[in-house]
Amino acid sequence: MPLNIGVIGLGVGEAHARAGASHQESVVTYLCDISKERLGQIAAQHPGAATTTDPGAVLCDPAIDVVVIASYDDNHYEQTMIALKNGKHVFVEKPVCIFAHEAKELRNEIERRPGQLFFSNLILRLSARFMRLKELIEQGQLGELYAMEGDYNYGRLSKIIDGWRGQQAFYSIVNGGGVHLIDQMLWLAGERINEVMAYGSNIVTRDTGFRYNDYVSSLLSFRSGLIGKMAANFGCVYPHFHPFRVYGDAGTFINNRGDAELYRSCEQEEKPDLISDSYPGVDKGDLFLNFLDTITGDAKPVVTRDEIFDSMAVCFAIDESVKKGGPVTVEYL
Ligand SMILES: NC(=O)c1ccc[n+]([C@@H]2O[C@H](COP(=O)([O-])OP(=O)(O)OC[C@H]3O[C@@H](n4cnc5c(N)ncnc54)[C@H](O)[C@@H]3O)[C@@H](O)[C@H]2O)c1
Repeated sequence: MPLNIGVIGLGVGEAHARAGASHQESVVTYLCDISKERLGQIAAQHPGAATTTDPGAVLCDPAIDVVVIASYDDNHYEQTMIALKNGKHVFVEKPVCIFAHEAKELRNEIERRPGQLFFSNLILRLSARFMRLKELIEQGQLGELYAMEGDYNYGRLSKIIDGWRGQQAFYSIVNGGGVHLIDQMLWLAGERINEVMAYGSNIVTRDTGFRYNDYVSSLLSFRSGLIGKMAANFGCVYPHFHPFRVYGDAGTFINNRGDAELYRSCEQEEKPDLISDSYPGVDKGDLFLNFLDTITGDAKPVVTRDEIFDSMAVCFAIDESVKKGGPVTVEYL
């Protein structure tokens, strides 16, 4: 029996529907969007799928095995909870939810249901360039790591000023964007972050309707002594990109908009190795394919549920540190 997929929210959800339709053991059965116009556009690409403007119809349909939740952020918690309680496998876009207490409740519900798979779309994990970086680290080519720095340069300011993101009960650029880099750092380091210290500002958007910080810079103290720096930079005049640097005592990796570089020497004349795998080089629906393959038993999960909740816990600690104006110990969920 093929897996029946229901997709809620057809912005980025369109990529998940496309990926689902390409998967050999799955069928896109139900499409949902509150916008009739958007629903009609995407339904035209999936003529066999039923359509609805009511997410509850998908979440409670006993025929649906897998639910993709790609609605607005403030719908994720409730829709994920209903999907879990109705026995579905859940693939929810990041951020999984907005508040730490919601994350705790979801975690508890997920733990009670070991037969149901849960993923969030931390898509940078599938970037060939970052997979190569992970390999280089594991081979010891950078030596012992002592610092990691990454910037989530958004480059899409209008999305927070004019779009739904600014209308949410709370919009965290850390949980909504920086989470990709936090996940990346935890994965590359292979260890947890103990404590964070962060500052935030809203200089770029203060005269707009956006009510939250558009820039947050954080310092991250890992258990081994490794130190991270992560900035969520939503106001930047710069195309969407993630500058990323990893420093080890034997080498330095630098992610550029062109090729990435691996420096093995401090000599000015020595050229770095170039890493030219495309960046990010992934489609937004690619991780959903891994999710489906994990359900069918044909693959291992690229991102585990522990990793998803660990990166969120760090994001919540960063936001708490900005609010408090001091260091915050990460409370893992
Ligand atoms: N993982 C990633 O890299 C990535 C990239 C883009 C967006 N996202 C996430 O995906 C989610 C959607 O963002 P987007 O960029 O696609 O936004 P979008 O505005 O482009 O599309 C969202 C769609 O969902 C529909 N929608 C909203 N609430 C709904 C509901 N309750 N039920 C049914 N349909 C609903 C809207 O009508 C709209 O068509 C957000 O949570 C965002 O953070 C993740």
